[in-house]
Amino acid sequence: MPSTPSHEPTSTILIVGTVRDNESQTPLRDLLDGYGDRVEVERLDITELDQITSLHDRLAGRQFDMLFVNAGTANINQAETIADVSMEEFVRVMITNALSPMRVIENCRILFLRTA
Ligand SMILES: NC(=O)c1ccc[n+]([C@@H]2O[C@H](COP(=O)([O-])OP(=O)(O)OC[C@H]3O[C@@H](n4cnc5c(N)ncnc54)[C@H](OP(=O)(O)O)[C@@H]3O)[C@@H](O)[C@H]2O)c1
Repeated sequence: MPSTPSHEPTSTILIVGTVRDNESQTPLRDLLDGYGDRVEVERLDITELDQITSLHDRLAGRQFDMLFVNAGTANINQAETIADVSMEEFVRVMITNALSPMRVIENCRILFLRTA
């Protein structure tokens, strides 16, 4: 049975991360300097459905193991209670935190389905 010392990596992990603003230098883009062969950066605002479908199309045909959807937002004024918050602000938070993550998962699920 082949064995490999446990401290040696057996494969190279590739990470595709997303940013809303693909022009500015961000901590994710900083990773490209040292790990450019293992990190890719794509543009995505999760509230923009066309950007989700474009991302899916760019990644189509590739196979990923995990998807983290960690984009999120809070009320601009975090002292506001539910009685105070405007309908517009509540809808903005719900679109970002509830609807959009589900859209990302639904649109990109094919990238995570394993074929036998
Ligand atoms: N921090 C806490 O202690 C805490 C505690 C409990 C719950 N939460 C909740 O966790 C969520 C995130 O909070 P946080 O403090 O981690 O905020 P954060 O530091 O501002 O991080 C939010 C991240 O989500 C990204 N993002 C926001 N809207 C996006 C969009 N439309 N498309 C793509 N990416 C988007 C932001 O990207 P950019 O870099 O482009 O802005 C940023 O990277 C919020 O819902 C908050 O209520 C936070």
